[in-house]
Amino acid sequence: MPDPSAIRLTIPRPDDWHVHVRDGDLLRAVLPYTAKIFARAIIMPNLKPPVTTAARAKAYRDEIIAAVPAGVKFTPLMTVYLTDATDPADLARGHAEGVITAAKLYPAHATTNSEHGVTDIKKIYPVLEQMQKIGMPLLVHGEAIGADIDVFDREAVFIEKTLKPVRKDFPALKIVFEHITTQEAADYVAAEGSKNTLAATITAHHLLINRNAMFQGGIRPHYYCLPVAKREKHRAALVKAATSGGTMFFLGTDTAPHTRAAKESACGCAGIFSAPNALALYAQVFDEAGRLDKLEAFASRNGPAFYGVPVNPDTLTLVKSLKPNSEIKPILTENGQEIVGFAPMSPAFWGVADI
Ligand code: DOR
Ligand code: ZN
Repeated sequence: MPDPSAIRLTIPRPDDWHVHVRDGDLLRAVLPYTAKIFARAIIMPNLKPPVTTAARAKAYRDEIIAAVPAGVKFTPLMTVYLTDATDPADLARGHAEGVITAAKLYPAHATTNSEHGVTDIKKIYPVLEQMQKIGMPLLVHGEAIGADIDVFDREAVFIEKTLKPVRKDFPALKIVFEHITTQEAADYVAAEGSKNTLAATITAHHLLINRNAMFQGGIRPHYYCLPVAKREKHRAALVKAATSGGTMFFLGTDTAPHTRAAKESACGCAGIFSAPNALALYAQVFDEAGRLDKLEAFASRNGPAFYGVPVNPDTLTLVKSLKPNSEIKPILTENGQEIVGFAPMSPAFWGVADI
């Protein structure tokens, strides 16, 4: 029974500009959660082995499409994982054929399955040149890596060491600074983003938790992701940016499923699985900030404008109930592996209607 006193908000169907859907049985378990809410999604290429060519992106797209539940309309937008050996001509062909939407920069060893990533940004300058020419966006995992760089400083160092020089050398290259986690990143993108060559995605979990979440009463692996959550002042800066209405900020959940066993381990994987509740949690954040009127821009309009695609013609309705949501149960893969979903640390009241 719907709650008669519920508040409803209808927006054009959103897109998720950053998801990990994996492959095989994990893909089949998690994809329906993304596909039933989001019309399109930018698919991350960090499989094992990574999706490094247009041909692999095409094969992966076919595997994803086969996993979309019957009757659901969903378009995966494919990316290629950049390595020191990426062939610019292959990217250009894949882009021209409509197979590849964007290319992803993982600095080597920055995160899950990034060991084949780029070891020195200069090595991919010919690729960036080509991307700038054909208008293909570069998606960056914005963390600088080094024994002398504190894990909580990696993002701020990346801006100075890599992002600013790359933007100077390729002023027309479209760049998405993905899953930003710091005030430095929010300020930089807000200041530079109006030129339409720089934008940022922000996750629901980085809007809701700060780094204390990982240490509440013990080590909490399900709150660990990369870039790692930062101090409260950074979370507050992200909320301000996301809810500002600025066209340079848009939705990217970075839902990143791992099995419970892989998370609850002596060396647990980075990644938060938020596909089932992320959209509702964004609504919760915007509502708490008194900025529900800005959710439509963030979730449904700014991403398509940056990527140069139309806003989705269909709509989706969010509903606020009087009772807080119950916790999402772990989902099960075909092989009986559990995937634990993101649990916000405070009560949330929003949900998605009729799905
Ligand atoms: O927490 C993360 N998980 N961050 C990433 O950059 C990768 C992702 C994954 O693939 O699990
Ligand atoms: Zn990611």
